[in-house]
Amino acid sequence: MHRRQFLSATAAMAALPLVPTLARGADAKPDHVVTPGPGMASLLGDGKPGTAVWAYGGRVPGPVIRLPRAKLVHLRLDNNLPEPTSVHWHGIRIANAMDGVSGLTQAPVPPGGTFDYRFQSPDAGTYWYHSHHRAWEQVARGLYGLLIVEEDTPPAVDSDHAFIADDWRLDEDGAISAPFGAIGEAAHGGRLGNWLTVNGRTEPVFKVRPGERIRLRCVSAANARIMAFAFPGLTPSVIAVDGQPLEAPFVLDGAMTLGPAQRIDLAIDIPVDVTGPIPIQEVSTADAIKAASFGVSGPPMRERTLTTELVLPANPLPRNLDLPGAINVDLLMEGGAMGGLRQASYKGQMFDMRTLVMEKGQAWAFNGVAGGMDTPLLSAAQGRTVTINMINDTQWPHAMHLHGHHFHVIERDGKPAMDHAWRDTELVEPGSHTRIAFIADNPGKWLFHCHMLEHHMAGMGTWIEVG
Ligand code: C2O
Ligand code: CU
Repeated sequence: MHRRQFLSATAAMAALPLVPTLARGADAKPDHVVTPGPGMASLLGDGKPGTAVWAYGGRVPGPVIRLPRAKLVHLRLDNNLPEPTSVHWHGIRIANAMDGVSGLTQAPVPPGGTFDYRFQSPDAGTYWYHSHHRAWEQVARGLYGLLIVEEDTPPAVDSDHAFIADDWRLDEDGAISAPFGAIGEAAHGGRLGNWLTVNGRTEPVFKVRPGERIRLRCVSAANARIMAFAFPGLTPSVIAVDGQPLEAPFVLDGAMTLGPAQRIDLAIDIPVDVTGPIPIQEVSTADAIKAASFGVSGPPMRERTLTTELVLPANPLPRNLDLPGAINVDLLMEGGAMGGLRQASYKGQMFDMRTLVMEKGQAWAFNGVAGGMDTPLLSAAQGRTVTINMINDTQWPHAMHLHGHHFHVIERDGKPAMDHAWRDTELVEPGSHTRIAFIADNPGKWLFHCHMLEHHMAGMGTWIEVG
């Protein structure tokens, strides 16, 4: 080093006021560091072989991230995986550049690389974070976790539990079965697993007391399976859907269905006169299986079981839909096994179905285009009301997810819908039409895709442009 440089460096350092140093310090220290990398999990249960996973912080699910509402936070992605990745904060109405969609809102982060996410969530509620790069493999390997945005005033519950369900596909020895993204499966229902976990465990026990009021934050992290959970002997009430509180909670009638990526918050009051285990069952197939249980023990929490309704505070969601002035768009969903799709365009060229599937890895189309990312489905000026009629002309259900917005289902099969929830992911049944409406108030490029991750991989993705 030349003396002149040394001198000027010293002078510069002496002249440095305290403030930038502090600012730099604050900047360098993120609120959370999210580290995807290899890890081990005991998915099969204690005493059984472990499973090599890809996980945030070495755990499946990743650490619960709790954020304050409406406050800027800084989360650093520190990629310890052997391949690129990105993190998506599912369901949060976020600044577009922070949405974590590799190839649309950011470049994938290489192994060893970092990415700084800075955002604030206007809404409290139950969200989740997961990989959005080759998600059909990275999520299947375990890259997901619970993301909680706290209410300004904590709601009156005795305990708050995560219930993150996933169906893994495991070998006899507990290893995750390859292949990922198989086109045959992608053309059917996607990658279905053979082993159910809740919070990364087999049949976990939630320890509670008689009379306890529980908030259960249910999330489906499955790639493709639509799951359903029953709570025999209990009367859970649905208090939020996809993070958004219901104005009028209702008692769960039958099983709770969760398509991939959907969330439901339940308020559950354990009766004061009950002790012992209360099972939670997965009932989507003919054979109900035990998913988890409440282990009820200890002195009752109160004299009587609570019967008052728990209503969560409303979020500042734009709800004044201007339907007469709306942009109305159709989304025709075609393809898949047993579908009638003969041909579709892919990257600007027409291909017959056989070529699409065998050579291009595409099996589905939106409005005649497979994997149509070149142009948006629609462009809307900021603040405009948009309706999208999702027409499922396939033999499969699809869990359609819109980024950056919550929508209201206004019509099912041409009839007004009686759904009061504001959702970010909606199951569209085969042969049915579902019209959603939302205010396109968040500028940017927002992905709109099927959250059956193999379906997205094989063509079911588009985007909308706002602003
Ligand atoms: Cu859960 Cu496109 O994301
Ligand atoms: Cu789908």
